[in-house]
Amino acid sequence: MSQLATQTEAPVRVSFRDVSVEFPTAQGPMRVLDGVSLDIRQGEFVSIIGPSGCGKTTLMNILGGFQQPTEGQVLLDGQPVRGPGPDRGVIFQEYGVFPWLTVRQNIAFGLKLAGNKIPKSEHQAIVWRYMALMGLKDFADHFPKHLSGGMRQRLAIARAYAVRPQFLLMDEPFGALDAQTRSAMQDLLLEVLETEGKTVLLITHSVEEAIYLSSRIVVVTARPARIRTVIDVPFGYPRAENVHADPRFGVLRAQIHELVMQEYAAQARQTLRMAD
Ligand SMILES: Nc1ncnc2c1ncn2[C@@H]1O[C@H](COP(=O)(O)OP(=O)(O)O)[C@@H](O)[C@H]1O
Ligand SMILES: [Mg+2]
Repeated sequence: MSQLATQTEAPVRVSFRDVSVEFPTAQGPMRVLDGVSLDIRQGEFVSIIGPSGCGKTTLMNILGGFQQPTEGQVLLDGQPVRGPGPDRGVIFQEYGVFPWLTVRQNIAFGLKLAGNKIPKSEHQAIVWRYMALMGLKDFADHFPKHLSGGMRQRLAIARAYAVRPQFLLMDEPFGALDAQTRSAMQDLLLEVLETEGKTVLLITHSVEEAIYLSSRIVVVTARPARIRTVIDVPFGYPRAENVHADPRFGVLRAQIHELVMQEYAAQARQTLRMAD
């Protein structure tokens, strides 16, 4: 059976409960998240889509353990998130590779962290496997500054995958890639999920990407981000590449696109008002 599950009986792993976040600004507190409640079950692939600056990264940072909610809480297997951990592999929007480490050392980094149970004897093979998967083998001893933007992004992905986390938290991971590489990375992600079975939260600007990859899509509002709609994607896993041609794909794309555009417009009006 597919490792990826959308069955409703799978256990809830992540639970956002009425989460709000406010950041202090010179003009007073700015609300960035407002009453977000969302359960994510084992094996689900949930995408978040919404306008720039609405609070998506903040939402992911709370699950990653990098940010505390102002109100509400996030539970991981029933326990409040207290900080980052090797169970959650994070791919940051801004690459998040270490400039002082080579490609090989960047990928090995997470494997060496305390709390990781991967035996040392396996590290080298794992590093090579993910370098090969990401097309980075010929650059093993290069430093990030000598890589293109797309390669740095692939390195960040390799580093997150190598630790084999139970959860993948991905913040616009494919945004910096050209169309061909992006599509290859999407398929590779689906392959990794089929063999390793993970629970995924993905932030993306691409409606097509969200539909192609996810089991559920959460459209969030202009800032402060609230859940506008949650959409069940009607396609199973392993996902056929030709779902793009399925008439339901087009209907879903039009429907989500419309919602997202409304929220982009609302966010743009808000930004203009702030500039007044
Ligand atoms: N640590 C922080 N302190 C103050 N403001 C922040 C902080 N992090 C994010 N913000 C602000 O919160 C808003 C939402 O940010 P973010 O979650 O990154 O949005 P998105 O990922 O949807 O583009 C933005 O206006 C951003 O400037
Ligand atoms: Mg962001």
